[in-house]
Amino acid sequence: MPAALSPSPPAAGERASRLLERCRTLVRPALAEAVARLHPWVGEMAAYSLGWCEPGGAPVSTPAGGKGLRQALAVLGAEAAGAPRSAGVTAAVAVELVHTFSLLHDDIMDGDPTRRGRPTVWKAYGTGPAVLAGDALFALAVETLATTPGTPGTPGTPRTDIPSAVRHLSTALNDLVRGQADDLLFENRPWTGPEAVGPDEYRAMAEHKTGALLGCATSLAAVLAGAPRETVAALDRAGRHLGVAFQVVDDVLGIWGDPAVTGKPVHADLLRGKKTFPVLAALGTPAARPLARLLDSADPLGAADARRAAALIEAAGGRGAALAEARRHLAVVDACLAGLPAAARTTDDLRALLAFLVRREM
Ligand code: IPE
Ligand code: IPE
Ligand code: MG
Ligand code: MG
Repeated sequence: MPAALSPSPPAAGERASRLLERCRTLVRPALAEAVARLHPWVGEMAAYSLGWCEPGGAPVSTPAGGKGLRQALAVLGAEAAGAPRSAGVTAAVAVELVHTFSLLHDDIMDGDPTRRGRPTVWKAYGTGPAVLAGDALFALAVETLATTPGTPGTPGTPRTDIPSAVRHLSTALNDLVRGQADDLLFENRPWTGPEAVGPDEYRAMAEHKTGALLGCATSLAAVLAGAPRETVAALDRAGRHLGVAFQVVDDVLGIWGDPAVTGKPVHADLLRGKKTFPVLAALGTPAARPLARLLDSADPLGAADARRAAALIEAAGGRGAALAEARRHLAVVDACLAGLPAAARTTDDLRALLAFLVRREM
């Protein structure tokens, strides 16, 4: 069943797909040029993860990459801030590299065997090589930003504030690590009782692990181009709230999504005891007694327990509450964008993309 927040007009979905495609096409040459600087073996793992090649390096017959959300946010964020297109592309490459790094390591931490419809990098190449490829992508992202062409005050080049941009990316990286740490620690916290993870703890974890990079993606070109502080803050805040909404929808897809569409396993979060929003919301309702009994009794859950848990979460309203939570964060995103001094079309583009992202099925 689709994870729709509301009926999605096909035109909105098509517009968002076209936007994502436009941004992927714009960024691809610079991303490929950056990946080509890596050690060939490490570069192959990066290219495999990006959906450009098969294990071993042969070109893919059908593209297998991700949605390209972060690079699109960087390009549209640049447009919204009136930053040069070159700043948008540099920011896009940096955040897409960080995203790829984070997925390589995340799949090891979560023990997940599939992503983007294919074996994860650690499954295809081994854990050690996947850790190394993640490290290399992290370093490449920082290098890309630190070597951005353009010097402040040099005639003929766009203004480029590299130190501020590197600081901005580093803050997001530190937040991402903080969020991943809490996500892992929460696995060992109980579902009920005084030690249980509360919704606000979840929100902070999701903002850190996912929102920080989305906020950085949306605002990085503005930082690079020396945009006013308020513009940067509004774009960063918009991206962070989008990140919480996006993560909540990711949680929903992890329980009720179709692995053939998401490209990721279903029920993996339940089996690992991940504290995802639909479960926390369901446990907060009076209808949740049987769910609490099931989650508290079976450690770890088996596949049949997970199927039963999914049905109980839905019956207790966890799915509806999660989608309502995503909508609330999206309203904050809208308010942040409304305050921006941007060309109307650009903000419309951003809005079209955001609306699609919470209605997505992958
Ligand atoms: C997956 O992000 C990780 C999360 C933060 C939920 P995406 O859903 O953007 O992954 P790809 O890049 O499209 O595969
Ligand atoms: C998303 O983690 C955050 C990062 C990768 C930093 P998840 O573990 O929730 O995302 P998926 O579901 O594996 O893509
Ligand atoms: Mg994961
Ligand atoms: Mg994870």
